[in-house]
Amino acid sequence: MEFGIKIGTPEKQRGACVVVGIFESKKLTDSAKVLDKVTQGYIKNILALGDMEGKMNTSLMLHNVPNTLFKRVLLVGLGKEQEFKEKAFLTAINTALSALQKTTATDAMLFLSDFSVNGRTNEWKAMQIVIAAISSGYRFDQLKSKPDNDQSSLRKIVLCIDDRTELTACEESLQQGMAIAHGMSLAKDLGNLAPNICTPTYLAKQAKDLAKTHKLKVSILEEKDMEKLGMGSLLAVAKGTEQPAKLIVLEYHGLGKKENPIVLVGKGITFDTGGISLKPAADMDEMKFDMSGAASVLGTLHAVAEINLPINVVGIIPTTENMPSGKATKPGDVVTSMSGQTIEILNTDAEGRLILCDALTYAERYNPKVVIDIATLTGACVIALGNFTTGLMSNDDKLAEELLSAGEQVGDRAWRLPLWDEYQDLLKSNFADMANIGGRAAGTITAACFLSRFTKNYHWAHLDIAGTAWKSGKEKGSTGRPVPLLTQFLITQAKAAS
Ligand code: BES
Ligand code: MN
Ligand code: ZN
Repeated sequence: MEFGIKIGTPEKQRGACVVVGIFESKKLTDSAKVLDKVTQGYIKNILALGDMEGKMNTSLMLHNVPNTLFKRVLLVGLGKEQEFKEKAFLTAINTALSALQKTTATDAMLFLSDFSVNGRTNEWKAMQIVIAAISSGYRFDQLKSKPDNDQSSLRKIVLCIDDRTELTACEESLQQGMAIAHGMSLAKDLGNLAPNICTPTYLAKQAKDLAKTHKLKVSILEEKDMEKLGMGSLLAVAKGTEQPAKLIVLEYHGLGKKENPIVLVGKGITFDTGGISLKPAADMDEMKFDMSGAASVLGTLHAVAEINLPINVVGIIPTTENMPSGKATKPGDVVTSMSGQTIEILNTDAEGRLILCDALTYAERYNPKVVIDIATLTGACVIALGNFTTGLMSNDDKLAEELLSAGEQVGDRAWRLPLWDEYQDLLKSNFADMANIGGRAAGTITAACFLSRFTKNYHWAHLDIAGTAWKSGKEKGSTGRPVPLLTQFLITQAKAAS
């Protein structure tokens, strides 16, 4: 998909389709007014018929409208003008996209001034439209014997603005939006792949490919390397599987080697059966998405490299399956983590924190500015925040604020939960330094408390994406989140540093 920015008004443009907004009830936006005027009231006549009232989720495609150079005019309902906020904007854009995709139109043009959202700039709108357009064209059919054949003809979207001084900023925003959307597509592909294909070895191969195409440095630590490093916690999770565990490290250098990096650590459980603490059968297939944190790290590095951001980023991905077997870790087993702290594994299904803790200790060697881990860590997070919001926990208020605001900016939101010391007591063990579970209450927080014991030496934030990384049901599939949040955070960091 191609995107462009142009200065202009509707009467002088041409193309396969122009999209104009109509408010409830039948109020024309500026570009609709201009088109109505040059077409001698064509649009108002249509509205008078009552086929288009400007309601949300509605659109009307017009053909052969006289006196325009467009083959089609798409009227899209914007709802009530006072209620036109971020969500309505995105709904209108998606309504327009799906109407366009039902035609053979290869290009479309729209006027950003039609969609005035309080507090949001044209740059913001441009980025959101690009992400929506690429996301709506996403298909995952690589495992079907024949492709789905429902790809639309839409190839190009041109966004018009009136103010020449906004041109450069909007163009930059387009590029960033494209990079974010491409990063999301990569993360979605990895998440959606079947777990017999997307194994730890497969993820390592993907990391190597990414390194080759985007000039990143990659190293893959094997189990024998992890043993030397004393990663007894990570290796305990890998004991039950036939697949070799990997620790993937990717380094992106957009600045000199001396600049401290931002480290992203992604949970890469390519399938979570629960291990000996076996999960119930229902919906267990969805535990192929338990590597979504890892996928988001790869997707974000992809985006950062595509934008050429002046910043240093390291991605660390501990990856293994979590399987039961005669060799698997048992409830009650005590292991020693790389940090030296011992862990009583009371539940083998709380495996995410066990692989993350050693990766978080490993992160120390990069002298990180900040470390952010991303993990489908707890079912409790889905209960607390549902499927719209990522859980955020941090030992640093500034970092927490920056992540919340990046998510707000790009429509990939998180909400902070507390990490107060009171919760730490829930992890007490009679037999080791700590247990790997804290009981049913505050499960998302106690999981983060566990991680916090391994992140004392740097500024750290934890994103629990259990509710946001994929959708269940009819639309089952990876969402590519939180690639937008992470990439926006890094864009802002790079800007602040320059
Ligand atoms: N990967 C799961 C968390 C999960 C479950 C994410 C369902 C999304 C949907 C994680 O490894 C896990 O099993 N967590 C346990 C922890 C518990 C044993 C303390 C959970 O949430 O039940
Ligand atoms: Mn689990
Ligand atoms: Zn898991």
